[in-house]
Amino acid sequence: MKSFLSTVDYTRAEIQGLLDTASELKAAPVSRALAGRTVALLFLNPSLRTRTSFEVGAFQLGAHAVVLEPGKGAWGIEFEQSVVMDGDAEEHIIEVAGVLSRYCDAIALRAFPLFADWQVDRQDRVIRTLAEHATVPVINMETIIHPCQELALMRTIQDHLGRPDNRKFLLTWTWHPRPLNTAVANSALLIASKFGMDITLLVPDEAYRLDSQFMDAAAAQACESGGSLEVTTDIEQGYSGADWVYAKSWGALPLYGRPAEDAELRAPFRHFMVDGEKMAMTANARFSHCLPLRRNIKASDEVMDADYCVALDEAENRLHVQKALMLSLMGNKAG
Ligand code: CP
Repeated sequence: MKSFLSTVDYTRAEIQGLLDTASELKAAPVSRALAGRTVALLFLNPSLRTRTSFEVGAFQLGAHAVVLEPGKGAWGIEFEQSVVMDGDAEEHIIEVAGVLSRYCDAIALRAFPLFADWQVDRQDRVIRTLAEHATVPVINMETIIHPCQELALMRTIQDHLGRPDNRKFLLTWTWHPRPLNTAVANSALLIASKFGMDITLLVPDEAYRLDSQFMDAAAAQACESGGSLEVTTDIEQGYSGADWVYAKSWGALPLYGRPAEDAELRAPFRHFMVDGEKMAMTANARFSHCLPLRRNIKASDEVMDADYCVALDEAENRLHVQKALMLSLMGNKAG
């Protein structure tokens, strides 16, 4: 039984297999390949794209998706091991994992970090504990990484650029009113490096560098794939010659859990928003974002409405790649 917790656990060839299957499923979306199968979708945080694409994808393959929102329509869950459960949670992840494994063929989880202590959150313990106690595959629907988004991003890059090797991938930090999760940024590094892209990480200040576990993993993967990874605070250097511009906002890890201090640090950097002037510095790059996106905060209307903006293609590809993933983990292509 293999779970899908991180693309780091998969080879480039294995990921490419999923991406190829996704293209086949886009051409022939409806089948009975997973008839009688069930996936549980546990959401500890809100979602539009992830929930819809998993539910629709399961339906199109003849499977059924059960959506659970612990603490709302389902009992609150305790994730810490060996604790006296005298708080709000009514049941432990050990029993949740065991019960859902008896009913379902896979369990998917969205569990954002808690934004209190990065040394704790960086261990990604919630999904790892679920995977430890489940007896069916576990799918990461976003924790401190977002591997499903990675698949959609790479499918979209290949759809538009063909082979991604040594194409310049700019990951640019953007301003946002709140310090956000680093998950999509971490994931962008992981997938672009696995596929041999030349990555430039553009940040306004060294404090916005990403966690060393992802920087190191991306550097190692780039070394293996023939790609590269550089970090800059220079906007012109970042955009110059880029083939792909990927934008995301995230909080400064040294100020994790201290949002007021982070707000003060990032206040001078609203000009990191992606706009037409910056896109004009690129090599006719495509622009994409995982969505949701605040217009005229992260990217201008001009960018979002341009032909080079492929954010909706990436959102659509969430559906195709996750169907490929469910087929791989819950069944096979026959049927
Ligand atoms: N990109 C993404 O995961 O969107 P949702 O948060 O709406 O699921």
